Amino acid sequence: MPTKLILDVDTGTDDAVALMTAALSPDLELVGATSVNGNTTIDYTTENTLRVFDWIGLPDVPVFRGCDRPLARPQAPRGMATRIHGDLLDLPPVSRGATLQSGHAVDWLIETYLASDGDIVLCPVGPLTNIAMAIQKEPRILEKIPQIVIMGGAHDHGNVTASAEFNIWLDPEAARIVVNCGRPIRMIPLDATHRALVSSEDAGRLRALGTPAGEAAARFVLKRIDGYDATQPMPHRPGAAPVHDALAVCSIIDPAIVTTSFIPVDVEVDAELSVGRTVCDFRFRGGKPANVEFATDADEPTFVAMLLEILGRTA
Ligand code: RIB
Ligand code: CA
Repeated sequence: MPTKLILDVDTGTDDAVALMTAALSPDLELVGATSVNGNTTIDYTTENTLRVFDWIGLPDVPVFRGCDRPLARPQAPRGMATRIHGDLLDLPPVSRGATLQSGHAVDWLIETYLASDGDIVLCPVGPLTNIAMAIQKEPRILEKIPQIVIMGGAHDHGNVTASAEFNIWLDPEAARIVVNCGRPIRMIPLDATHRALVSSEDAGRLRALGTPAGEAAARFVLKRIDGYDATQPMPHRPGAAPVHDALAVCSIIDPAIVTTSFIPVDVEVDAELSVGRTVCDFRFRGGKPANVEFATDADEPTFVAMLLEILGRTA
């Protein structure tokens, strides 16, 4: 029986690979996607999400537009991720009928979860603004969310500051709400995604699949490698880059692809140097119970093999 999931995305290049993986995997049933402000503005993250589904021939996957700014902070300066994501993805405009659904993403999340059988995994791979707002607006959805699989966070090193990973940093108040919501949470942080890199040779293999998803993934991986090599090269791995969001989706298909520790995790919201840091209490010094399954490693060969198998499929 495929696992049902909803993806909350700030579509950018790795979100796009995650969307295609979720839509094409026979082990998953993608109920819908909600867009959020993050890698670029909500207009672009929404348009990009529609273009992805249209390109792979699945224009009927429901897409809903979400929040256009963080819960409680000013909008982040634009252009931070341009080299790795850009604004518009390198995909053609919609031509197969992919259409934005009416209504706000937060309201659709609430309606969908309240009406569900409690069997839809929630997979946010952008800032957690939509998720936090849905929880605050209608706390009853929590009992209907079986698991939240978040791409975000960092213990060893950040990517947008020394301490913080982008998704958490952009809206730390939202992240704190979600991390403390009481539901089962698996966090796929940089500690794992930076150990599951995709290389330019892998991009060649994706292109050689000859499928729409393979071609798009090759384009996005090569753009990411260019951006990472230019702005934040992976130590000892030039010519390779993380595809963070796709690892979160693959961990739903095969949880063994990541190594996790069940620990107390919270989010710093009020510190000059470390705002947005996921504070990981591996030694339980704070006396709090564990609340997050925090990934500390990942199986790169299996991850790449999963991408090649799934993105070799067509709708
Ligand atoms: O830090 C990586 C995360 O930030 C990824 O989800 C990427 O798409 C951006 O949203
Ligand atoms: Ca993302």
